[in-house]
Amino acid sequence: MNNNRLLQQILFPNHIFTFDDFPSDFQELAGDLRQLSCTPTYPWAQYFYFSLIKKHNLTDRGMAGEFGVAKGGMSHFLGRLFKPNHQKVYSFDTFKGAPFASGPKENPYYKKGDYQSLEGESQLSQFQDAIKSFGLEETIIPWMGDFSAADFDFKAPGKFSFIHIDCNLYESTKSALDIVWDKVIDGGVIVLDEFFHSSLGVKNAATQFFINKGLHPVYHLVFPYSVVIIKGEVAQDPNPDIEGNFYDFDLMKENHCFRDALKINVNVLERGPFPTLENAKLFLGLLNRPTTSHDVHLYLWLMRDFWNGFYQPLSKYEQRGIITK
Ligand SMILES: C[S@@+](CC[C@H](N)C(=O)[O-])C[C@H]1O[C@@H](n2cnc3c(N)ncnc32)[C@H](O)[C@@H]1O
Repeated sequence: MNNNRLLQQILFPNHIFTFDDFPSDFQELAGDLRQLSCTPTYPWAQYFYFSLIKKHNLTDRGMAGEFGVAKGGMSHFLGRLFKPNHQKVYSFDTFKGAPFASGPKENPYYKKGDYQSLEGESQLSQFQDAIKSFGLEETIIPWMGDFSAADFDFKAPGKFSFIHIDCNLYESTKSALDIVWDKVIDGGVIVLDEFFHSSLGVKNAATQFFINKGLHPVYHLVFPYSVVIIKGEVAQDPNPDIEGNFYDFDLMKENHCFRDALKINVNVLERGPFPTLENAKLFLGLLNRPTTSHDVHLYLWLMRDFWNGFYQPLSKYEQRGIITK
């Protein structure tokens, strides 16, 4: 591929993923978890949840839980955050990958066994080894099994203040919400990862769950594709978007690191000509003005290169001398 083609491909929001100027207290908690996490969403998801957990004092107010653990990066991160307050972290997974493929209520995308360990050792024993090496044996409780199965039986010993739902599939997400909703404190946080995804499983499951409950949650956007729900929150915005959902950009607006990363992205693209400069500028503009639920569609449009499957660290271009820092 010639350089011109490559230059055309320096797409938004690449540079945001190479940002590494996070505060030191966050670096200490998450800096070594890249290999055990999904990239994306590491490190942004961790940083957004770190800020949220601190802001709402969630480690004082209940336990944490994760539905969909895989290599365990997020569970370890939660373990480190909740351990000082002696709160447990429950980590639910088959530890053998997705128990079934995408079903009729979502677009075909996931296959049975996705995310299973490709190394010989079982994912559960790898997770347990890491728990031990991080000194989190008293904090993290792995729970092995299909949580969508009829015989799934979990009795929580207390209430949850933070739940990370990251299991991709409609049935898994719907089951996780059914299992955990009543066990979350008022003001507790529930994350739905991959809410924005072409498979639509997570979004469809949440929509069905909240229709059944007669609730209208506010979905707080977290870059790049998850949303945060605060249990009990009522939308301030009088108008939902065209699909009937309420969205809020506050978490991205108040996150200084994220705004810095966006500014860097604009600066890099200004060295162009890169056609995606416009996307980066419009994104920054979105975070600098009052927004409504309808702005979610602008967000999705500005992120179209990302949805189209293009994701490469900008450092690759730097290494090849296509652009310089
Ligand atoms: C995207 S991975 C989780 C990534 C992890 N949260 C992270 O941040 O690194 C999705 C996981 O969900 C698990 N999963 C999906 N449906 C499940 C179900 N019904 N029961 C148990 N585990 C499930 C899969 O086994 C897989 O490990």
